[in-house]
Amino acid sequence: MYRTHTCGELRIENLGEKVTLSGWIQTIRNLGGMTFVALRDRYGITQLVFDENTPEQIKNQVEELGREFVIKIIGNVVERSSKNPKMPTGDVEIIAEHLTVLSKSEIPPFTIENETDGGDEIRMKYRYLDLRRNPVRENLELRHRMGQEIRKYLDGEKFMEIETPYLIKSTPEGARDFIVPSRMNPGEFYALPQSPQTFKQLLMVSGFDKYFQIVKCFRDEDLRADRQPEFTQIDCEMSFVDQEDVLNTFEGLAKYLFLEVKGAKFEESFPRITYDDAMNYYGSDKPDLRFGMKFSEITEIAQGKGFKVFDSVEYIGGIVANGCAEYSRKKVDELTAFVQKPQVGAKGLVYVKYNQDGTFKSSVDKFFSPDNLKSWADFMNAKPGDLLLILAGNKNDTQNALNVLRLEMGDRLGLRDKNKFAPCWVVDFPLLEWVDEEKRFFAKHHPFTSPKTEDIALFDSDPAKMHANAYDFVINGVEIGGGSIRIFNAELQQKMFNALGISTEEAEEKFGFLLDAFRFGAPPHGGIAFGFDRWCSVFGGSESIRDYIAFPKNNSGRDVMIDSPSVVDEKQLKELTLKVIK
Ligand code: AMO
Repeated sequence: MYRTHTCGELRIENLGEKVTLSGWIQTIRNLGGMTFVALRDRYGITQLVFDENTPEQIKNQVEELGREFVIKIIGNVVERSSKNPKMPTGDVEIIAEHLTVLSKSEIPPFTIENETDGGDEIRMKYRYLDLRRNPVRENLELRHRMGQEIRKYLDGEKFMEIETPYLIKSTPEGARDFIVPSRMNPGEFYALPQSPQTFKQLLMVSGFDKYFQIVKCFRDEDLRADRQPEFTQIDCEMSFVDQEDVLNTFEGLAKYLFLEVKGAKFEESFPRITYDDAMNYYGSDKPDLRFGMKFSEITEIAQGKGFKVFDSVEYIGGIVANGCAEYSRKKVDELTAFVQKPQVGAKGLVYVKYNQDGTFKSSVDKFFSPDNLKSWADFMNAKPGDLLLILAGNKNDTQNALNVLRLEMGDRLGLRDKNKFAPCWVVDFPLLEWVDEEKRFFAKHHPFTSPKTEDIALFDSDPAKMHANAYDFVINGVEIGGGSIRIFNAELQQKMFNALGISTEEAEEKFGFLLDAFRFGAPPHGGIAFGFDRWCSVFGGSESIRDYIAFPKNNSGRDVMIDSPSVVDEKQLKELTLKVIK
């Protein structure tokens, strides 16, 4: 037997018991006549003590021990003379009678402590050691808990978890596919699913009216903190529903998770904000609603006063930073440099300090009278003591830049507390998006997303103006999920393909199976998919989804632990009828 208890289990009530523990050696402290060993497993740490009464043979064994050795110990639980209230097992220690070294360890490449000395690269290479550290293990525990609760909730709502294949044909999510050559069908390839989108729609045609799956998805796209080439979705679809039904069902799931996992109770409905408002007020389709600082557009009141920079632009807008009128010159210069960074892209920053005494000081005093500035301040709901930060340019770019500035100010003013949660729905997305380089429309969500009924007539006259029955779920400025009500009528689907410049033949070749299925009685349906890794990371308070994935890839899409991707040998290539062109 390897253990009677875990290393996190023993308490004062266990005094006098003979126990067997197994685990890893966290630390060894040799204090002259006494040696203390901290023994660790997933559940905690228990102190072992070896003193002058320890049999000679065990003392000799102890001399040979090192960090991360795996040992088994049999001994008696005794009360500690100096208790450690910070440790759950801190009242007791074990006097060892027997010690077995189960496995030795080389000196680990970084310290396996909460705060480690290991850099990112080395911890990724030895991920299995990194996973021994408490904060990393706790992240996976959170993920596990989330997964269990999601299944419990959806099962309770009569959703069926159904697996869909990984070796498929291209899916329409808009990223690049990972492809897999088929040995049995030379020259042909599978694609790994970017999502189970088409399969879940087929399941609706099959009559499974509530489907979900916690499922791996694969997308060959540029990686960022919130993007991995393989990631996990909580993928869901329902039949006989409209948008309201879908939002209500999954708002239920979200509230349940907030409560069960984070202890956060949401009594009210989550705010819903239209895509247009989200862009106009926050410059983002994933607004961080933990704080206000909405944009105000002042184009009309700020133009025509002889300030060329303003008079020649499409859009002038700004935000109010409460209590920041006393910002020093240096701080304002810093913000100016910040908005001028290429990734923010503004040409400059206009500031107006609305001083406590009601006077104004701005970077455009030459062009605007105090009355002018007061009219901006009033329009923007600023109060004495506030700082107005204003950008000007074309509408899209300026709103984008204002978004970045708003988030930066939110950070500076401590308004983005990771323990506070502000969920919302963004609704009424545009149906189509014009892509200039390709000179054609793309589906903003995907080609099966239905337009708003009242907009269908615009297919022929002004497709850019059409809105979709599409929605995103956002928490704290992170897009957690997205979905839509689908087209289930062949004629409308054809109109959509036409708008996207997809010919009948191409549609038939790519999605013939789905269009076929729709000819055999398709129910009205819609759904959503949540990024499971992202949801975990927001709940865990981290910006990086990698922290919540046991074996993630780095930013170049590499797994540096198993050294993948890697070259394959000639024989394998030949079997697949492939040749690598250098
Ligand atoms: P969408 O493409 O919006 O929708 O994806 C749904 C959610 O998946 C997460 N996500 C990612 N997470 C990590 N790494 C990535 N590379 C990545 N890409 C996406 C996001 C996103 O909100 N089939 C549709 C859903 C539907 O219509 O029902 C879909 O996949 O959190």
